[in-house]
Amino acid sequence: MTTFAPPETRTPYVGRAVDRIDGAAKTHGEARFAAEHSYPGLAHAAIVHSTIARGRITAIDTAAARAVPGVIEVLTHENAPAMKPAKGGPLDLSSMVSGTSVNYLATDQVHWNGQPVAVVVAETQETARHAARLVRPAYEELPAAVDFAAEAPNAVPVKGNPIMQHGAEKGDAEAALAAAPISVDLTFSTPALNHNAIEPHATTAVWNGDELTVHESTQSIAFLRRHLAKRFGVPEGNVRVLSPYVGGGFGGKGSVWAGTLLAVLAARATGRPVRLALTREAVYRTVGGRTPSTQRVALGADAHGRLTALIHTSVSHTSRIGGNAEPITAASRHLYAAPNILLRESSVQLDLLATTFMRAPGEAIGTFAIESAMDELAWRLGMDPIELRLANEPERDPVGGQEFSHRRLRELYTKGAELFGWHRRTEGMRDGRLLVGMGVATAYHPAMLWPASVTVRLAADGTVVVRCGMQEMGMGAATAQAQIAADELGVPLESVRVEYGDSDLPAAPMAAGSGQTASVAASVVAACAKVKQAVLALARRAPGSPLRGHRLADLQARDGGLHHAGGGQTYADILAAAGRDHVEGAIKQGMLGFVVGMLRERRRWVKAATGAHFCEVRVDPDTMEVRVARWLSVFDIGTVVNTRTAESQMRGGIVMGLGLALTEQTLVDPRNGRIVNPSLSEYHVPVHADVPRLEVHHLGDPDPTMPLGIVGVGEVGITGVAAAVGNAVRHATGTRVGDLPITLDKLM
Ligand code: MOS
Repeated sequence: MTTFAPPETRTPYVGRAVDRIDGAAKTHGEARFAAEHSYPGLAHAAIVHSTIARGRITAIDTAAARAVPGVIEVLTHENAPAMKPAKGGPLDLSSMVSGTSVNYLATDQVHWNGQPVAVVVAETQETARHAARLVRPAYEELPAAVDFAAEAPNAVPVKGNPIMQHGAEKGDAEAALAAAPISVDLTFSTPALNHNAIEPHATTAVWNGDELTVHESTQSIAFLRRHLAKRFGVPEGNVRVLSPYVGGGFGGKGSVWAGTLLAVLAARATGRPVRLALTREAVYRTVGGRTPSTQRVALGADAHGRLTALIHTSVSHTSRIGGNAEPITAASRHLYAAPNILLRESSVQLDLLATTFMRAPGEAIGTFAIESAMDELAWRLGMDPIELRLANEPERDPVGGQEFSHRRLRELYTKGAELFGWHRRTEGMRDGRLLVGMGVATAYHPAMLWPASVTVRLAADGTVVVRCGMQEMGMGAATAQAQIAADELGVPLESVRVEYGDSDLPAAPMAAGSGQTASVAASVVAACAKVKQAVLALARRAPGSPLRGHRLADLQARDGGLHHAGGGQTYADILAAAGRDHVEGAIKQGMLGFVVGMLRERRRWVKAATGAHFCEVRVDPDTMEVRVARWLSVFDIGTVVNTRTAESQMRGGIVMGLGLALTEQTLVDPRNGRIVNPSLSEYHVPVHADVPRLEVHHLGDPDPTMPLGIVGVGEVGITGVAAAVGNAVRHATGTRVGDLPITLDKLM
């Protein structure tokens, strides 16, 4: 993998607050999402969900549903066309993603409560949903393991692999803990969580013979295309996935879930274009969420607060049909310089819907435990929690010994403490009758890169088209790449168009791991360099060109052309003189070489986005209701391409963290595995009244090992948030709540 030099000078567009180029289309209502595409003869589908967790369908009565006027077809395991199972090699992420192993409707087996057991296709959405309620399945029920708390003791260690480690051992942490003069040994638990993107998952599927077009709300068009080709037995080239607008993903649209496959299946079975727009309830029943967890963190320290032992263990669950074993201890590997470290992750398979990625899977809930325990240790030591963290700030990676590519946690805490007024924190703070508490916690998320293929085309009229099959889920992905291409070529932002969200474009794997912007940036920069090289080659062949005899390294791309101290020429002039209507630069990257390079680089560097959160709470002493009153975070996310969209990402992460801390939890009936709160009225995401003004800062300091110095910003924001809230609550009330969410009953 290339090591990239940081930009020497501040370029015109990168680093500025630029409006999103897709913003106008969205605010004007012109942007069409996956469920907003119309086709002649479009039919609508609705899912019938199982009401048992495990067993077999013995009979399914569809007569009443079929009798509803407007019903076209009711698909069940008795009449649905077959779908192939999806199996792939270790580098085939289209099969590794969770929730994909079930052969929906080709089986009478039930694997979770909520599994689709029938699909109704009708002339209207209302008819389909109404008729779906009339389908009557009968089951033979089998015993099911659905109660995480009861099954957690059966968890087995999660096996690591070169890409994802699930534990670490250095020295003898248990012995060091036993010998430590000061220690804490705490248990934590976090609840199951569900995805609640503003746009529920939706698919519009159209078959034309053996050719398939799918409008989908997805984070991964390339993987989805490959997956659909396998499932439906057609060549990949026959499948086109379109996903230009996605109303939020957060990991919930990174896998292929039942609704997508069933829409495509229904379209094939009925010969009609089919739209399947999931209800909010159907999202809960068919799209996985975050595992619940139990965790132990034990810390041993000397009297000065230097850690001698760090132990972090976790239990999560997956499903018998797949799922994501969250790397819950991942951040604890990199945070503190303890000589003895033990990290261990276990997981148990349950008869529930597959768990999946959710914003910062692993770090989001793992940092709650480790950062709460550090705070508790600070209380035990009578030490300021920031000082305790800084006393244990490592020089090199505590487990692997690699260098940090970039680490500014001291600066983050110093700056944050000053801006937040941390020195005002005293014991027994009050605001009138309300208890006041202040807490801090560290945010951490690894920096990731994916292969990204890109073409950049410069036309004779000076316009530029960047083509990349990446995803824009509302985070400003396309705007960021337009800014980068404009700077690299030295053209106005307005003359750059970015094409994305279409599987016919050069492939980029997925918007995930906070890695898309840096990954695509690397290829955009390289493709722009090819364009400039090609333009220069034309100029050097032209008699009289002021660029003759010059090399690219001597030239500056600005003002729509290439320039040196003594002169220059516009792209338009060069192309016109050469009789060309465009030049193009293409970068093609595949997965295999990329992964090999990534693993090699990992031995050398540990790279991450980091942050310091500062939280102030007010707690009502009578009701023990917690309100977050003030929030400030300082992040180190490398070069910030677009300050407006990056700050929005940071705030979005913090808001999700506040939900994790205070309000969100999926309630699973331990008798039958049924989610009992599958709606926004009973699953409480933070609303405006729950969120104070979120003050976010970033250092803007490039990471020398990342493309253009960019480190991902999507996920780091949520990490550490729940701990900062819990630590502030501990300061205000004296009570440590280790069980999320921190609801008032736990403080009574
Ligand atoms: Mo994200 S949880 O990597 O989609």
